[in-house]
Amino acid sequence: MLSDARSDEEGAAVPPGRRRPPGDRLALRGDLRSALPDATAAVVVTALVFVFLYARMESGASDTVAVMPFMDDPGTYWMYLLSQAFGWSALLWAWGTVMLGLLLSGPRPARLPVSRQVLERWHRTTSLTTTALMFAHALMFAAELVRYETKVAWAERLWVAFADTFVPGWYDSGTGQIAIPLGQGALYLAIPLGLLFYVRHRIGANAWRRLHRFVIVVYVLSVWHTLLYGTNVWYGEWPRTVLWLLQLPVAVLLLLRLLRPARRAERLGPPGGGAARPGWWVRAAGRVAVGAVVVGLLIVVVSGRDGGRDRPTHPPATAPHSQETD
Ligand code: HEM
Repeated sequence: MLSDARSDEEGAAVPPGRRRPPGDRLALRGDLRSALPDATAAVVVTALVFVFLYARMESGASDTVAVMPFMDDPGTYWMYLLSQAFGWSALLWAWGTVMLGLLLSGPRPARLPVSRQVLERWHRTTSLTTTALMFAHALMFAAELVRYETKVAWAERLWVAFADTFVPGWYDSGTGQIAIPLGQGALYLAIPLGLLFYVRHRIGANAWRRLHRFVIVVYVLSVWHTLLYGTNVWYGEWPRTVLWLLQLPVAVLLLLRLLRPARRAERLGPPGGGAARPGWWVRAAGRVAVGAVVVGLLIVVVSGRDGGRDRPTHPPATAPHSQETD
């Protein structure tokens, strides 16, 4: 069924006598079923990260507590820790699915450990899992806000938690005024850009392909949101360096994908060559910009100037999140 979906995506003719590939809904249902092992692995990873963050908070080594001393109680703030854990698994899965996507759309490697069909299926299932993890991350943050806000009536508690989490521009405290909308942007773009695949018969394979390209924006917003807001990468220490370092293979694969795309039609060619191309300069500038990003990432990693704060000698007077400032 999945390989049928693929051949249809490539526009291959369906041999006579064979049934047309199943409808979009069936394809989605099939991918959801295939995503089960993947989603189970993601839940296990989330649980491990949660245990790690919980233990660090209990032992007094938590960076989150260093940033927000009032949180020094994992038993009370476990939903916040679970939200963080989902955030990390979401980012890890986003990294994986973007790498798979770039491997598939860039220059074809001479040898692959598994077939392209398998890689494509992994790309689709990990992308579904990523969206679910992103949502779980935001949902646990909302749940923590509901738990925290004990002084007001239930209806208001629910509304404020929902609005702070899901309504862009509502959250009005500190760095979150920028970081939360970045996260929301990533989540809200991930849903249509990922799921459009399942309605590509209706919108046309070309329209789908053109739109799906922008999924890289989801990833960039996710990383930006994390670097800006993640308290476990708040200080300029090794976890933040590793996070930056992980972006290097993504940027290199993106550059390769732009310079040597798998689809011939996407190759840039010489300026003015062939038909008139009004977007030639824009596309060339995109390639130069991604090249600059690769160089920039190298500079950040080598120099260690990664935007991390210095660990304060005294606990901060204010925290970055609304719990404290409210
Ligand atoms: C509605 C959207 C979102 C909301 C409301 C939200 C909220 C938050 C908040 C409040 C934090 C700070 C937690 C801390 O103290 O460290 C955070 C951190 C984080 N977020 Fe999001 N986020 C959203 C979307 C996303 C998306 C799409 C991703 C992508 C993978 C993501 C990944 C992360 C990660 C990895 C952290 C760092 C957690 C840590 O430091 O332990 N978030 N987010």
